[in-house]
Amino acid sequence: MAQLLITGGAGFIGSHTALVLLEAGHNLVVLDNFSNSAPEALRRVQELAGPEAAQRLTVVEGDIRSAADLDRTFAAAPGDQPVAAVIHFAGLKAVGESVREPLRYWDVNLAGSRQLLAAMQAHGCRTLVFSSSATLYGYPEVVPIPETAPIQPINPYGHSKAAVEQLLDDLAASEPGWRIARLRYFNPVGAHPSGRIGEDPSGVPNNLFPFVSQVAVGRRAELQVFGGDWPTPDGSGIRDYIHVMDLAEGHRAALDVLLAEPPQLLTLNLGSGEGHSVLDVVRAFEAASGRPVPFQIVARRDGDAASTVADPRLAAERLGWRTRRGLADMCRDGWCWQQANPHGYGH
Ligand SMILES: NC(=O)c1ccc[n+]([C@@H]2O[C@H](COP(=O)([O-])OP(=O)(O)OC[C@H]3O[C@@H](n4cnc5c(N)ncnc54)[C@H](O)[C@@H]3O)[C@@H](O)[C@H]2O)c1
Repeated sequence: MAQLLITGGAGFIGSHTALVLLEAGHNLVVLDNFSNSAPEALRRVQELAGPEAAQRLTVVEGDIRSAADLDRTFAAAPGDQPVAAVIHFAGLKAVGESVREPLRYWDVNLAGSRQLLAAMQAHGCRTLVFSSSATLYGYPEVVPIPETAPIQPINPYGHSKAAVEQLLDDLAASEPGWRIARLRYFNPVGAHPSGRIGEDPSGVPNNLFPFVSQVAVGRRAELQVFGGDWPTPDGSGIRDYIHVMDLAEGHRAALDVLLAEPPQLLTLNLGSGEGHSVLDVVRAFEAASGRPVPFQIVARRDGDAASTVADPRLAAERLGWRTRRGLADMCRDGWCWQQANPHGYGH
């Protein structure tokens, strides 16, 4: 079992992945500044993992942009077990916010990643799993989207992810020995089936799923559906939703491959390969929750595409991994979390 460092491990995807990695027997040090998460998430990860595994999780509060905080985090791994790999989730992810605050996005996402990579180099760790995004593909020309599709981001968030991908290319080419997986997530949703951990967006959710679940629980009056005239069967936009537990398991699989195989740079879509429209999600959520989800169709939003769906075959081939949970599971587990925690972790 390996000693791992997880940045942003208290966040939505990080907390679920931390649980899966603890259950796989790894030792974890999590570095998070809690700018978009709560320490309570990691306390619950420990509770779900059980007392033995809980001891294998160390939490460091700090910032990926700080060399001193990174040194402290590497030092928090037990002396006889240097960090074997880093899983890098820490970052900012709201598209609209990135348009308003590009400097902050470039700072955290690009400068933060650069600082982390420099610390990895200094501490002799050259294995990295990086959270990339399907946002890179912009308005895709071919759907399902293969990894070879052009990188053409259309907002500062996407540009910052593309820049980190480029930096990783340059780094891997500069020195042998790097083992890197760039994982391009599609639309992660749902929650751990226990309902103890889940997505806890602050303010008005940017994404469809948390919005729908907040309408179902009565926290918001109705959903706005952006565009009812897309060239899709029901006129609403189509996305590839992936259950966060499938995504977490994808990280474990990527890590296993990186640690077992010779150095390489892997670039993989993590998605289900299946598209669901906004109206499909509304209906599935109503069925899972037994609650109505009132909605109103409004104008299209700038920067949205009609349909983005992953071609997931490369990940299946390289990782032996594919999604196992469908839309009904995503809604059931997301609802379970929402109902038990109507105000998230309360941070
Ligand atoms: N959720 C999605 O839809 C989605 C899709 C594609 C890619 N991603 C990427 O996956 C990663 C994780 O996403 P998430 O949904 O779990 O987001 P999240 O906001 O829930 O988690 C990110 C975590 O990073 C922490 N963080 C932010 N800035 C930091 C800093 N400077 N130093 C230390 N910690 C910091 C936050 O406190 C939070 O705990 C992000 O890089 C995101 O861009 C997310």
